[in-house]
Amino acid sequence: MSDKKGTVLFYPYIPKKSLKILENRLSTRWIGQGPMVDKFEKKFSQIFLNGKECVSTGSGTDALHLAYILAGIKKNDEVIAPVFTCTATNIPLLYIGAKIKFVDVDPNTMNICINDLRKKISKKTKAIVCVHYGGIPCDMSEIKKIAKKYNVKVIEDAAQALGGKYKNQNIGTISDFTIFSFQAIKHITTGDGGMLCIKDPKLIEKAKRIRWFGIDRRKKQLGIWKNDIKEVGFKYQLTDLGASIGYQSLIDFKKIISHRLKIYNIYLKNLSQNPNITCIHDFDKNKNCAAWLFTILLKRKDFLQKKLRQKNIETNQVHFRNDKYSIFKKFVKNQKFKNMDKIENRYLVLPIHTKVSEKDAKYICDLINKFI
Ligand SMILES: Cc1ncc(COP(=O)(O)O)c(C=O)c1O
Repeated sequence: MSDKKGTVLFYPYIPKKSLKILENRLSTRWIGQGPMVDKFEKKFSQIFLNGKECVSTGSGTDALHLAYILAGIKKNDEVIAPVFTCTATNIPLLYIGAKIKFVDVDPNTMNICINDLRKKISKKTKAIVCVHYGGIPCDMSEIKKIAKKYNVKVIEDAAQALGGKYKNQNIGTISDFTIFSFQAIKHITTGDGGMLCIKDPKLIEKAKRIRWFGIDRRKKQLGIWKNDIKEVGFKYQLTDLGASIGYQSLIDFKKIISHRLKIYNIYLKNLSQNPNITCIHDFDKNKNCAAWLFTILLKRKDFLQKKLRQKNIETNQVHFRNDKYSIFKKFVKNQKFKNMDKIENRYLVLPIHTKVSEKDAKYICDLINKFI
């Protein structure tokens, strides 16, 4: 790989047949939410959810907002959520007016710190939100145990964990609610899109209604005139255009995940030997990582990022601790996040996507090991 060509941090996976698929779709009457969305949901449920029904959305953020509403979270309810995550995890809690209780990061996995979760949960807690950072599954047995003790709902933000497993169970089949994202640079994309997986089948119809203004779309499409809206809904649907690309990506999913894992394992093998670098990884055999990000911790992060940039290799921070954003300040008065403080200036995300070849990944490792 020449230095000139370089490697970008993210690149969308676009199936080869996309142009043809879109051409076909554009020549039908359905481009918004139509039969292709149904087909996409069905395929997704067959691959990841043992056939259980799921509800696609216009984004992972939409799916989170719906999950929080369906979990019964209301204004002023206290919700446990990770301090280190994409802001999309926490912002929909602000839509509702919930009170966020931030939990520190586990510096080994960048997931929620279970010890801090135990300290922060209380009788006032309504729900626990956890995020599988970079595709590394959280300790779901522990989280479930704690949730059971306090009788609270668990919402998994699995935006980054498509194809991940915990104790041989697919992520998406474990908790009360799980969401995925199909935003441009995720494992699969629908342009923008998301999926909401719900344990209680009784909530599916409500999820579908509040995805679409609160209207029962199916009944309406049957030409029924009697009509009412009893709950406020949103306009959070996926489109047939996006679902067409997503459907083909689901067919390609095995190939996508196996490539990402190959790149992930090259980084892990070649960088974990370096005494100046810590690889973010979980060796727990109960966890199958979905390899969305590969993150390293090191003291000379800025130096390495600059050196790699000179070789046209992009690296970045991706997420920033949420407690430092002004919109969340009211939730963090006098609170300390010791682990977050320690790693705040040390993490760096390396490129993983289907355009990174094994040769590219080895070359990036050689450069890192030369510089650090
Ligand atoms: C952890 C996490 N949660 C939620 C989201 C939101 O997903 P979307 O961009 O599809 O709204 C993302 C990604 O963007 C994410 O990485």
